[in-house]
Amino acid sequence: MKIPPVKGTRDFYPAEMAVRNWIIDGWKKVSVRNGFEEYDGPIFEYLKMFQIKSGDEIVEQLFSLQDRGGRDLALRPEITPTLARMVNQRINSLPKPIKWFSVPRLFRAERPQKGRLREFFQWNIDIIGVDDVLADAEVIFCAVDYFRDIGLGTDDIVVKISSREMLAALLQAIGIVENELELLYAVLDKRSRLPDDTFEQMLVERIADENKREKIIELMCVDSIEQIGDCLELNKTAQESVDELGRLFELLGVMGVGDYCVFDIGIVRGLAYYTGIVFEIYDKASELRAIGGGGRYDNLLKQFGGPAIPATGFGIGDCVLGILLEEKGLLQKQLPERNLDYFVACVDESYKDAAVKVTMRLRSACFAANFSYKAAKLNKQLKQASDQNANKCIIVGDELKEDKLVIKDMTTGEQELIDFDKFFAELK
Ligand code: HAM
Repeated sequence: MKIPPVKGTRDFYPAEMAVRNWIIDGWKKVSVRNGFEEYDGPIFEYLKMFQIKSGDEIVEQLFSLQDRGGRDLALRPEITPTLARMVNQRINSLPKPIKWFSVPRLFRAERPQKGRLREFFQWNIDIIGVDDVLADAEVIFCAVDYFRDIGLGTDDIVVKISSREMLAALLQAIGIVENELELLYAVLDKRSRLPDDTFEQMLVERIADENKREKIIELMCVDSIEQIGDCLELNKTAQESVDELGRLFELLGVMGVGDYCVFDIGIVRGLAYYTGIVFEIYDKASELRAIGGGGRYDNLLKQFGGPAIPATGFGIGDCVLGILLEEKGLLQKQLPERNLDYFVACVDESYKDAAVKVTMRLRSACFAANFSYKAAKLNKQLKQASDQNANKCIIVGDELKEDKLVIKDMTTGEQELIDFDKFFAELK
């Protein structure tokens, strides 16, 4: 019986695994140089943890299960609730600000499509305990720092930024009441992915008043921060969040990443816990789903039973990123090749044990080394050495009787006779 892989999952053969490792190694390197420390949590949590504040969309996509004691659990669709839980647990002893990163394996029962799967990896960067837009700028910088590192420039990607706080104030000025906001965010978040008439129909279902709907549509068409004031009179909260956005763009300029960033009032975010600056990262051509997204979530730790502590961060997935890198031809150029330091060949069966012994000594000296399982013809073994990308091939043969080995440089093809003991004594 042949069993296929589960829908929406990936098998990582060595070639795919090399890509995954290269992406994740890059995330980790950039996190560390930006001053973040790594953390992780369990792959499953209590189901209710994701029902508190993640929003309907994520709750509908949960992979849930019951343990033997009848407790309701779920595979994690994101790590932010786990982060909030972990930080709350040690809130008094953790030095602040907290700058943590993680690369969790996540699960969402989405409809599999280009860039969206049911199991994926996500780079998370979060700063907890800083109530300053400088922290929001810093997390955006980290994302761009990584993209620049891997060769994605301003022609390739764009960070679209807005503010939930500002949007809330503007929508309230239009007459939307507080408890309508969350439902409205979910529709506004989907707007760019929906045909106009579907969007308008969804709006009708939530907002009965036609004037209000027209005002919302007009507001969502604004394409600069300055234009907002032309569309609506700004109240104090709206003005403050507009000023905060202005300061954010100023800081991004200071950090040298302003060219990657634009204001986009259509960025609302699907998750329910965001409270301030929000952003999403897209391919410049807008052909793919979001590469990443994040923002400020100042109430989440409190909602999880902790104190009121401000927080900001992002998540960037590996799927769309991988597609984009492939499309731009940036993967093959940068992927490190599999490299073997030595391949150890033997001229015939009688030298096989000696070849095994040489290999193990090389490995114990921290070199990547392989040998041939069969004492096949030397040519075949050399082919194996070159298939495995070996830098050098050691040939064990009659020379061993005089305590010597043959070393072949696989790039130049040059062969050299070396002294067995001297070779191992000099190995670094
Ligand atoms: P999110 O917008 O749900 O945010 O996910 C962030 C990114 O994860 C997406 O832009 C996408 O690249 C990737 N992603 C999400 N779902 C899938 C999927 N089904 N398949 C492949 N990739 C996917 C969050 O998860 C927030 N917790 C991020 C955050 C951290 N906010 C603050 N801190």
